[in-house]
Amino acid sequence: MPRLSLRFAGFPVYPLAHIPARKQALIAAGVDVIDLGAGDADLPPPPRAVAALQAAAEVPAMQRYGFAMGHGPYRDAIAAWMQTRFGQPFDPRTEVVPLLGSKEGLAHVASAYLGPGDIAILPDPAYQAYIGGTLLSDATPYVYPLRPRTNFLVDVDEIPGDVLARTRVLYLNYPNNPTAAIAPRDYLERVVQVCRDRDILLVYDNAYSEMGFDGYVPPSIFEIDGAREVAIEFHSLSKTYNMTGWRCGWAVANPAIASALTRIKSFTDTGQYMGIQAAGVAAIESWAEFVPRNLAVFAERRDAAVAAFHASGFSCETPRATMYLWIPLPEGIPSAAFAERLREEQGVVVMPGSGFGAGGEGFFRVSFIQPGDRIAEAARRAGVVLAEMVKARDAMVAAGHP
Ligand code: MLT
Repeated sequence: MPRLSLRFAGFPVYPLAHIPARKQALIAAGVDVIDLGAGDADLPPPPRAVAALQAAAEVPAMQRYGFAMGHGPYRDAIAAWMQTRFGQPFDPRTEVVPLLGSKEGLAHVASAYLGPGDIAILPDPAYQAYIGGTLLSDATPYVYPLRPRTNFLVDVDEIPGDVLARTRVLYLNYPNNPTAAIAPRDYLERVVQVCRDRDILLVYDNAYSEMGFDGYVPPSIFEIDGAREVAIEFHSLSKTYNMTGWRCGWAVANPAIASALTRIKSFTDTGQYMGIQAAGVAAIESWAEFVPRNLAVFAERRDAAVAAFHASGFSCETPRATMYLWIPLPEGIPSAAFAERLREEQGVVVMPGSGFGAGGEGFFRVSFIQPGDRIAEAARRAGVVLAEMVKARDAMVAAGHP
């Protein structure tokens, strides 16, 4: 029997990994499943993107390897959009890295900058690609708990000096998954300053940059002076254009950082299908007409979700960005047990906070990715499970069990 590596033995199980199989089994058993788990909307991509993919499928040259260079117009569209949207110029050939979704880039970039003995600072809870990349690089994660006390920000000034001295990479993600927090500009300035002072690579996951509500427009990290020296920023078509399954994203950074990621990737993939990159061009070019309308649907769903979960006995804030509610659970109700009961007894899929790291305990995440009436029904069922669990907890306490 081949022996697994020591590294693998300590490798966590991806929190969403078991959900599709459980969902399928529940549906096969006749359960009316409402899936508010992954950030994976039921809405369609831009029609121009679909048409571009269909057209590309007929073009022989598009069926060949993309390699790292990929489809030139995709690089050009990315650079043009970064300029229009954030006022930030990038050289399409040397400062743009096409990705098979931002996730692989977020994980792969770690191995260019981390090795044994190095530290990566990770928010906790967080998108699990960050810890995945860190552990695969044999580096040490330093997890910083995201709690209401710091408005779910990683306060870099609280990190001990001996940790900062060994830190090579800091992962940040605002608007934040899963907490839906946003970062003020002076906070981002402080982070960039610390990274410059300490030569730390700032890996800035900006997958939710186009999901700001109520007039909030999330910035690029490159709007902060000095960020060009230390940052790499990741973007994705997944959330902005309802194209999760297409696996298409990009990173932007100065040529040295961009080429380091490209070099790592040249050993692990040979580029996204160029037909999908052509669809990416069409999606990006439809930004002005598509994104505001799509966002209006999410805003409606957000409001429906907040109202429904409040009505079912939960308290949560109205997020100003992302597609998530980050909902606190009462003391003594473990998030994994709550999510499991909600799924298995009521057919509602949500993400337990602990699935994003120990720092997420005490919360669960709802993705507002379905119509308001379905979210309302999910909230009603969640209220049933919550009431039962609170009752059971109170009975235990009354019986003298902690
Ligand atoms: C999420 O739902 O947080 C992610 O977008 C899905 C994933 O894990 O890739």
